[in-house]
Amino acid sequence: MVTRRRMIGAALATGGGVLLMRTTLRPAASADAASAAAVQDAAAHHPHPSGTDAPDPGPDAGPGLVEKFTTALPVPPVLSPVSTDGGADTYAVTMLRSFARILPGHRTEVLTYNGAFPGPVIRARSGRPVIVRQTNLLDDAVSVHLHGSRVPVTSDGGPMNLLDPGDSRTYTYPNDQPHASLWFHDHAHHMESEHVYRGLAGTYLLTDETERALPLPTGRYDLPIALRDARFDASGNLVYRMDDPFNRTTILANGRPWPKAEVAARRYRLRLLNSSNLRFFSLRLADGGPITQIGSDGGLLEHPYTTDTVDLSPGERADVVIDFSRYKVGSTVVLTNSLPPGPAEHVGQVMRFDIVRSAADPSGVPDTLRTLPAPGAAVRERTVVLKVEEGTAGSAPRGLIDGKVYDPDRVDAQVAFGTSEIWTVVNANTDVPHNFHLHLVQFRVLERNGKAPGPAESGLKDTVRLLPGESVRLHATFDSYRGRYPYHCHLLDHSAMGMMAQMEIG
Ligand code: C2O
Ligand code: CU
Ligand code: CU
Repeated sequence: MVTRRRMIGAALATGGGVLLMRTTLRPAASADAASAAAVQDAAAHHPHPSGTDAPDPGPDAGPGLVEKFTTALPVPPVLSPVSTDGGADTYAVTMLRSFARILPGHRTEVLTYNGAFPGPVIRARSGRPVIVRQTNLLDDAVSVHLHGSRVPVTSDGGPMNLLDPGDSRTYTYPNDQPHASLWFHDHAHHMESEHVYRGLAGTYLLTDETERALPLPTGRYDLPIALRDARFDASGNLVYRMDDPFNRTTILANGRPWPKAEVAARRYRLRLLNSSNLRFFSLRLADGGPITQIGSDGGLLEHPYTTDTVDLSPGERADVVIDFSRYKVGSTVVLTNSLPPGPAEHVGQVMRFDIVRSAADPSGVPDTLRTLPAPGAAVRERTVVLKVEEGTAGSAPRGLIDGKVYDPDRVDAQVAFGTSEIWTVVNANTDVPHNFHLHLVQFRVLERNGKAPGPAESGLKDTVRLLPGESVRLHATFDSYRGRYPYHCHLLDHSAMGMMAQMEIG
């Protein structure tokens, strides 16, 4: 285990970083003129210089501006619907620039949904549609994607389905799927990476009868926690330079650096999301204490399992229960991360739990959480190869799927509606980590590197990690909607470089 972890760490710390350090903001060539224009437009209007053309502000100033474990972990705001008529919950969301108090004594300009950093939470129920009226008051075109959802293509928020500055549009989420901890984020082609980095991400918690019937911790004992890294200049401004893994060394939990959460000595459910652009986390309690994982991207696992480590690549979620009654009131425990890149005294620490009071605990974690149907017969197998290629003198690196940069006018995979397929996804880089995300479907992981996956990957997934040289076999059923949906690496700096492709379900 230690050897394997070292190996992962080494891969993340060395080759990948070196390769990616040379990237510029300039997007890989796209066949789509409109997209190129939108990107140029966005760049022209953007008040923040980005990419390597701007002078490098030096190392991340974040760690020097913060005393760890002093700021309280914020609970992200839950949005209230503007209407609950017509059998649906309707929300009005405005995307706008705002200022957040991220670092003590500084105001940081961020891009937000409704001014909230961390982004807001939408709570939804299976079978009851959610309608979100989005208004874009930013200077850039955007696209709002509900990650992990089963939605018609018109509401998927794909990379080319842009919402221009000043415009509004309505996204309809049928919620015709089981409970799951989803999230929404920007997806405007070539700009998603910077937009998400600057704040355009929120949480979407979908519940159903199956989940509600369980005695899991609820209310204030059910905490969404979004983890990410960031880089700041000495004035507390967010610094975005594409492919900058070594320099994003400030760890944010719910938008605050190394916060502390005051908890009662009882069970908590934590909905962990890795909303980083590039950073992988391997999370542990500093004392090696048990963490009960109960869910993954697509909702609860069939059975909980107890572990000391939770791995999350960008975009992945883990639903865990931690029982703080093991700790004495007055004690503290740090949530740590064992993966580079970055100095361990900074990136190795995430947040702290301060056990401040005792509390009654009527919650529990049953041995069976749900049942999942066995993956059905597949009609077709295909292989998908992910690779990032370093640019030769003067040209930007390219993100490739099956040797090609994303082209919105090309269909890369024709899928017959109503069928199941097995996809073998391969990371062809020997020194760069990737992961793989399919829109529209929650899939099953059949194999990782030729072997059965571990319990963390035994449930429904929409994003899987692919360390250098790894491969996974996935089973997906395409029986919900027809149309063109993307699949991509969810290291957003990679998808922004073209590591994205498109399937057509018809
Ligand atoms: Cu979370 Cu295509 O994205
Ligand atoms: Cu998605
Ligand atoms: Cu990648």
